[in-house]
Amino acid sequence: MRGAAQYEGKLLGMDIVTRGRSLRELTTWGVGGRCAMFAAPVSRAGIFYAFKEAKDAGYPVFVLGGGSNVLISDEDIKAMVIHTPCCEGIEALSESGGSVLLKVKAGTSTKDLLDFSVSNALTGVEFLTGIPGTAGGAVFGNAGSAGTGFAEVLQYLDTVTFDERELRFDNASLNWCYRSCPFERSENILITEVVLLLKRSDRAEVAKMTRYFASLRSGQPIGKKTAGCVFKNPPGDSAGRLLDSCSCKGMSVGGAVISDRHANFVENTGSASALDIYTLCELCRERVFESSGVKLEYEIKFFGAFPQKKIFKGS
Ligand code: EPU
Repeated sequence: MRGAAQYEGKLLGMDIVTRGRSLRELTTWGVGGRCAMFAAPVSRAGIFYAFKEAKDAGYPVFVLGGGSNVLISDEDIKAMVIHTPCCEGIEALSESGGSVLLKVKAGTSTKDLLDFSVSNALTGVEFLTGIPGTAGGAVFGNAGSAGTGFAEVLQYLDTVTFDERELRFDNASLNWCYRSCPFERSENILITEVVLLLKRSDRAEVAKMTRYFASLRSGQPIGKKTAGCVFKNPPGDSAGRLLDSCSCKGMSVGGAVISDRHANFVENTGSASALDIYTLCELCRERVFESSGVKLEYEIKFFGAFPQKKIFKGS
């Protein structure tokens, strides 16, 4: 494999590609095996370098942000993983008439973005309170709370595609559906920057809104090793309520257990494998289907190989 220094372009010192990197500590569940190739680029050239190395090796590319909404398999994975949190930073582009245009690099943590908005008295992203991960990952999964999310504040976003094109998407061209990726070709794209339009407000007001959004999460297992809600809410109902109503709370497989605070959360009590978590999720899914006929859909993303899903192949 070539070293970064031998690759033409303006690569920075950290723009290297390594092999056999463990992914476990890069996820909030704390599970997962190793990937064949790994890069944590800090520049655009570094991203393209990683794409090229993956292409040369014949590996698919997987983009990993904060690792807060993904289940990575225990077995080693033949892929290039691009870890985005090194591409971080927030910059005010302009301000007029009480509106501030903010450029946020995709690897910026949602907490840093929220803290920035509070300390600068900017309103619009309070919904991020309690949502872990990166800005890019949150946009990619259309994260939100109480019906609000990035659709309300995003102006445009910049991406690079795995075939090395740079594409800009205006908000209006994106398909904002509940907890689903707004891109059509989601598997071949990496978000590099999001540009948000926030409004000037009063600092106390912004802090008050964050307290409101925090209150919505008071029934969740904060501080535990989870990946947020595992399943999407079915139309008109709550996945947590459905799981709870068929006594899933407390169910466990190995070190994975359904939270006794909120049934849509799976906790890693310390020793869980990815397979434990997956098996537990499937057992609960079967229970809900048998008792109510509802097919719960996963909100989390999967990376790596998992056994054939028993009841809803391919969903
Ligand atoms: N409920 C139960 N038992 C449970 C959990 C919930 O009976 O174990 C009931 C609650 O009592 C309530 C209803 O179900 O009547 C809804 O529960 P909750 O208010 O906790 O909201 P949710 O629909 O479970 C959604 C999002 C959360 C978000 C909260 C607050 C999804 C899948 N979940 O949860 O998002 O934090 O609203 O805005 O959309 C996430 O996406 O990862 C996530 C945590």
